Amino acid sequence: MKKAFAKMLIVFAAALLIGAPQAAQASDLKGELEIFSWWAGDEGPALDALIEIYKKENPGVKVINATVTGGSGVNAQAVLKTRMLGGEPPDSFQVHAGQELIGTWVKADRMEDLTPLFKEQGWLDAFPEGLIKLIGTDKGIWSVPVNVHRSNVMWYIPANLKKWGVQAPKTWDDFLAIAPKLKAEGVVPLALAQNWTANHLWESVALASMGADNWDALWAGKLSFDSPEVVKAWELYGKVLQYTNSDASSLSWQQATDMVVDGRAAFNIMGDWAAGYMSTTKKLAPGEGYGWLASPGTEGTFMFLADSFGLPKGSPHRDNAVAWLKVLGSQEGSDAFNPLKGSISARKDSDLSKYNAYSQSAAKDWNSNRVVGSLVHGVAANDTFKNGFASIMEMFLKAKNPQAAAKACAQLAKKAGI
Ligand code: GAL
Repeated sequence: MKKAFAKMLIVFAAALLIGAPQAAQASDLKGELEIFSWWAGDEGPALDALIEIYKKENPGVKVINATVTGGSGVNAQAVLKTRMLGGEPPDSFQVHAGQELIGTWVKADRMEDLTPLFKEQGWLDAFPEGLIKLIGTDKGIWSVPVNVHRSNVMWYIPANLKKWGVQAPKTWDDFLAIAPKLKAEGVVPLALAQNWTANHLWESVALASMGADNWDALWAGKLSFDSPEVVKAWELYGKVLQYTNSDASSLSWQQATDMVVDGRAAFNIMGDWAAGYMSTTKKLAPGEGYGWLASPGTEGTFMFLADSFGLPKGSPHRDNAVAWLKVLGSQEGSDAFNPLKGSISARKDSDLSKYNAYSQSAAKDWNSNRVVGSLVHGVAANDTFKNGFASIMEMFLKAKNPQAAAKACAQLAKKAGI
């Protein structure tokens, strides 16, 4: 009897041992890893969470977190270009999934094909097929996606709206109806920041004005940029702009969010990194502390973008960079990064219990909405169009001429091969 009991104990202990989770083995990698991104300052905490995991797994590697400040990568992308063309690539760099990656460094044959890594890590099943298509060509897969952000979101502070006696507008007509009242009370109806955020606002307004089918048709070259649909979008955009702050061009996107948080402005249209900023930096609770809606007129459509990291040819510490990509693509890495960032995981097996109410609602919409690509954040068009569009926007902000802007876009589209 005793013997049988002892045997049972041994079997039980062995089962426990076999079943026990294996502690992650620290690698013996050495040297440096330079990670290049625009996630500086307030955008840093989520990246730091990834770096922490990397350091635990690779204690011998010195991580150089090279950031260039500037929302949506406006400055970082210029610095990256100089470095890539000068033959001094970082070990790994941030790039938006889509045309921003494919139309530039992949086209120039400066990236390594990551297909073997995707196969080895089981990522071909872990990421949605559509996303893999976006980061791939017939020659390979070119980056590892770390998140999915939503571009078309309107942010507000519920208590402030209550105080002012207004509701978050579901359409731009609703917005245009309440905006004069807010303005009369000394509240900026819609907070805006530097140029790229004007482009960002445009993509939400244009999506509402022309609808998702036309939006997709534009980028597929099936709807002309000087068609009446697009002119109409510029007209609406001009009306909306009347209700933005006059010092926009000198503000960062965070400062525009601050205007809403501080009660100087009622609304802001921004990607959901603003949720990350309000939750992680400002410590506001989603729902009570800050509220959100799909940007007016776009409910049911999720305009998306994804940040990813690639492996440039000639990466000085290639093995260290591959280890970095493994962290980015892992479930652990993704679910440490995204809850702080305001984005959702690009993986299909994300643990949503780690995410706040905003992100859970975004995840639900991601899985049920019509999905379209962002222009400003690299999905829909290549850099030739994106950068040219920024110049057309400068012109529009001064001249406010919808016809002229639409015409200039049509010429640009030709040049950009759309
Ligand atoms: C986007 C990027 C986001 C966030 C934002 C503001 O382009 O995808 O992750 O960083 O810019 O800088």
